[in-house]
Amino acid sequence: MYRTHTCGELRIENVGQKVTLSGWIQTIRNLGGMTFIALRDRYGITQFVFDENTPDQIKNQLEELGREFVLKITGKVVERSSKNPKMPTGDIEIIAEEITILSKSEIPPFTIEDETDGGDEIRMKYRYLDLRRNPVRENLELRHRMGQEIRKYLDGEKFMEIETPYLIKSTPEGARDFIVPSRMNPGEFYALPQSPQTFKQLLMISGFDKYFQIVKCFRDEDLRADRQPEFTQIDCEMSFVDQEDILNTFEGLAKYLFLEVKGQKFEEAFPRITYEDAMKYYGSDKPDLRFGMKFSEITEIVQGKGFVVFDSVEYVGGVVAKGCSEYSRKQLDALTAFVQRPQVGAKGLVYVKCNTDGTYKSSVDKFYSQDDLKNWADSMQAEPGDLLLVLAGNKDKTLNTLNVLRLEMGDRLDLRDKNKFAPCWVVDFPLLEWNEEENRFFAKHHPFTSPKEEDLSLFDSDPGKMRANAYDFVINGVEIGGGSIRIFNAELQQKMFKALGISEKEAEEKFGFLLDAFRFGAPPHGGIAFGFDRWCSVFGGSESIRDYIAFPKNNSGRDVMIDSPSEVDEKQLKELTLKIVK
Ligand code: AMO
Repeated sequence: MYRTHTCGELRIENVGQKVTLSGWIQTIRNLGGMTFIALRDRYGITQFVFDENTPDQIKNQLEELGREFVLKITGKVVERSSKNPKMPTGDIEIIAEEITILSKSEIPPFTIEDETDGGDEIRMKYRYLDLRRNPVRENLELRHRMGQEIRKYLDGEKFMEIETPYLIKSTPEGARDFIVPSRMNPGEFYALPQSPQTFKQLLMISGFDKYFQIVKCFRDEDLRADRQPEFTQIDCEMSFVDQEDILNTFEGLAKYLFLEVKGQKFEEAFPRITYEDAMKYYGSDKPDLRFGMKFSEITEIVQGKGFVVFDSVEYVGGVVAKGCSEYSRKQLDALTAFVQRPQVGAKGLVYVKCNTDGTYKSSVDKFYSQDDLKNWADSMQAEPGDLLLVLAGNKDKTLNTLNVLRLEMGDRLDLRDKNKFAPCWVVDFPLLEWNEEENRFFAKHHPFTSPKEEDLSLFDSDPGKMRANAYDFVINGVEIGGGSIRIFNAELQQKMFKALGISEKEAEEKFGFLLDAFRFGAPPHGGIAFGFDRWCSVFGGSESIRDYIAFPKNNSGRDVMIDSPSEVDEKQLKELTLKIVK
């Protein structure tokens, strides 16, 4: 028998018992003739003592031990004379009587402690060691809990979990596909699913009116902190529903998770904000609603006073930084430099200090009188003591820059507390998005998303203005999920393909199976998919989804632990009828 208890289990009630524990050596310390071993497993740490009564044979064994050796130790539980209130097992220790080395360990490449000395790269290479550390293990525990609760909730709502294939053909999510050569069909390739989108729609046509799956998706796109080439979706679809039904059902799921996993109760409905307003007030389709600082447009009131920079642009607008009128020259210069960085790209930043004595001080005093500046402040609903930060330029670009500035101010003013959660729905997305480079429309969500009924007439006259029955779920400025009500008749689907510049032939080749299926009685349907990794990272308070994935890839899409991707041998290539052209 390897263990009677885990390393996190023993308490004062166990004093007097003879126990056996197995685990890894966290620390081994020799203090004045006594040796202490802290033995660790998934559940915690327990202290073992070897003193003058320990038989010599065991004492000799201690000589060869080091960190991360795997031991089995038997001994007697005693009350500690100096208790450690920080450890759940800190009231007791075990007088060791017998010790077995189950496995030796080389000196690990970094220390396996909560705060480690190992850099990112080395920890990724030895990810299995990194996973021994508490913070990393706790992240996976959170992920496990979330997964269990999601299944519990959706099962309770009569959703069926159904698996869909990974070896498929191109999916319509807009990223690049990963492709897999087929040995049995020389010269032909599978694509890995960017999502199970088409399959879940087919399942609706098959009559499974509530489907879900916690499923791997694959997208070959540039990586960021919140993107991995393979990631996990909580993918859901329902039949005989409209947008309202979907939002209500999954708001239910979200509220359940907030309560069960984070202990936070949301009584009120989550705010819903239209795409148009999200862009207008936050410059982003994933607004961080933990704080206000909405944008105000002041184009009209600032133009015509001789300040060319403002007079010549499409948009002037800004945000109010509460209580920041005392910002120093240095702080303002730093903010200006921040928005002028090439990745943000503003030309400059105009400020107005609304002094507490009712006067105004601004970087454009030369052009604007005190009355003018008061007018700006009133229009932006600022109060004495506040600071106005104003940007100008092309409208879309300036909204975008204001978004970066707003988030930066949110950080500087500590308004983005990771233990506070502000969920919201963003609704009424545009159906199509114009792509300048390719000179054609793309689907803003995907080509199976239905247009709003009342916008159907715009299909021929002004397709860019059409809104979709599409929605995103956002928490703290992170897009957690997105979905739509689908098109469910072949005619409208063909029309959509046409608007996207997809010919009938191409549509038939790519999605003929779905168009066929629409001819055999398709129910009205719609759904949503949540990024599981992202949801875990937001709940865990981290910006990086990698922390919540057991074996993630690095930013170049490599798994440095198993050294993949890698070359394959000639024989394999030959079987696949492939040749590498150097
Ligand atoms: P969408 O493409 O919006 O929708 O994806 C849904 C959610 O998946 C997450 N996500 C990612 N997470 C990590 N790494 C990535 N590379 C990545 N890409 C996306 C995001 C996103 O909100 N089939 C549709 C859903 C539907 O219409 O029902 C879809 O896949 O959190």
